[in-house]
Amino acid sequence: MKRIIKNNGTRAQTVMLEYVDPSFSHAVIQWQKQHGRHALPWQRTTDAYHVWLSEIMLQQTQVTAVIPYYLRFLQSFPTVYSLAAAPSEEIMGHWSGLGYYTRARNLHQCAKLVVAHYDGRFPADPAMLEQLPGIGRSTAAAISAFSYGTVAAILDGNVKRVFARVFGIDGYPGSKPVEDAMWQRAQALLPAVDIESYTQGLMDLGATLCTRSSPSCPRCPLQTQCVAFAQNLTAELPTKKPKKKQKEKQAIMLVILHENQVLLEQRPNSGIWGGLLSLPEVDGMREVNAASTSSLSDSSREVNQLAQQFGHLESIERLPEFTHVFTHFKLHIAPLLVRLSQRQNMMAEARYVWVDMTMLAHAPLPAPVKNLLLTFGHGA
Ligand code: ADE
Ligand code: SF4
Repeated sequence: MKRIIKNNGTRAQTVMLEYVDPSFSHAVIQWQKQHGRHALPWQRTTDAYHVWLSEIMLQQTQVTAVIPYYLRFLQSFPTVYSLAAAPSEEIMGHWSGLGYYTRARNLHQCAKLVVAHYDGRFPADPAMLEQLPGIGRSTAAAISAFSYGTVAAILDGNVKRVFARVFGIDGYPGSKPVEDAMWQRAQALLPAVDIESYTQGLMDLGATLCTRSSPSCPRCPLQTQCVAFAQNLTAELPTKKPKKKQKEKQAIMLVILHENQVLLEQRPNSGIWGGLLSLPEVDGMREVNAASTSSLSDSSREVNQLAQQFGHLESIERLPEFTHVFTHFKLHIAPLLVRLSQRQNMMAEARYVWVDMTMLAHAPLPAPVKNLLLTFGHGA
């Protein structure tokens, strides 16, 4: 049976799912037995509690950092019962320094559930392990393989890198279609025997040989079957995360003047420039893209309406547009100078204030707005 797996829609791959070449798993297993890591503390046990603890710690932390934490944890909480019964502050204290503290909260929850529902014994079925807090598909497979010898596929960041290179899989591995394709691979490549060596071997290869920036291809057992090596693509694979196109927004700002005073508006406390004074805006800030750009002339009715709340309109004039760059987006500011000949004394809403142009330097204004008013103030 042939099946087409689409990656990102950019390249279609044909994968034979029936016939699986055993040379991949064979090479990984042989290499792990000879050259892989064997002395890690969690490798000397098949106790699911120990294996689970190590796999959770190793999810986002390097082996060398995990080892002392793992040993101390087991000293203080030798069984899943003792962990389940411990106060959460004590667990958090033991976790302190490892980072990603959600893991510690899930760890405690998980221990309690294993005690309550499984009589303190972690289930062997990866599908059941995956239901527990903090255990994803790959971690479930690793725990089950190391503790019970279950033949189940792992796929973490390291394994994704090895797969992308060996099989020349193009497309960002964090995207759904590429990840799905890799899970199918991972499943299809599984060996019938030696699942522990295979699983550990994949992890060790990714961590020690097939590293992100300088893979040791000459020492690699997969070199003869590696697409990235053959085509000199190790720097290109795995494909990097695509950069998000930076958002662009547009705001029409009104510089409403009466004599030497300008009308300012208090911004809401949340959102950008929260709580600062700024210029009144027409339509607020709008996202701009190729399909929709609102022009200044589209907004002239609203400009009139707003200005007339505050007095008699004398003139409207465009000021030069400019762009302010935030970390996450660009804001294109189109200022309109609105002069009033007479001021309405009634304030429409309390969030508006008239401020003397000479007082602007010390007013709580966003920098680009202050710059606009000061430059313009000097010219006017
Ligand atoms: N990373 C995740 N699981 C691991 C394990 N069992 N050994 C080494 N590194 C790992
Ligand atoms: Fe990674 Fe090089 Fe081995 Fe290919 S040959 S799997 S790129 S270390």
